Amino acid sequence: MRLLTNMLNDTNKPNRCEINLQSLNKNKIAICRCWKSKKFPYCDGSHNQYNEDNNDSLGPAIIKIEE
Ligand code: FES
Repeated sequence: MRLLTNMLNDTNKPNRCEINLQSLNKNKIAICRCWKSKKFPYCDGSHNQYNEDNNDSLGPAIIKIEE
């Protein structure tokens, strides 16, 4: 992963990032959309607690690479 900027938002996470999927050697990744993940930009399941606390239904963006 290569960060494009060191600017952080109010959750102390980078505003933008670039991920080289080929370097991860995976065909599927889950990107956090709730800003609560401790593995940001990847989803770690923290959205479940966020949803419970906020009566919301957020989940990750799933990106699949088909060959
Ligand atoms: Fe943020 Fe899963 S932890 S979407």
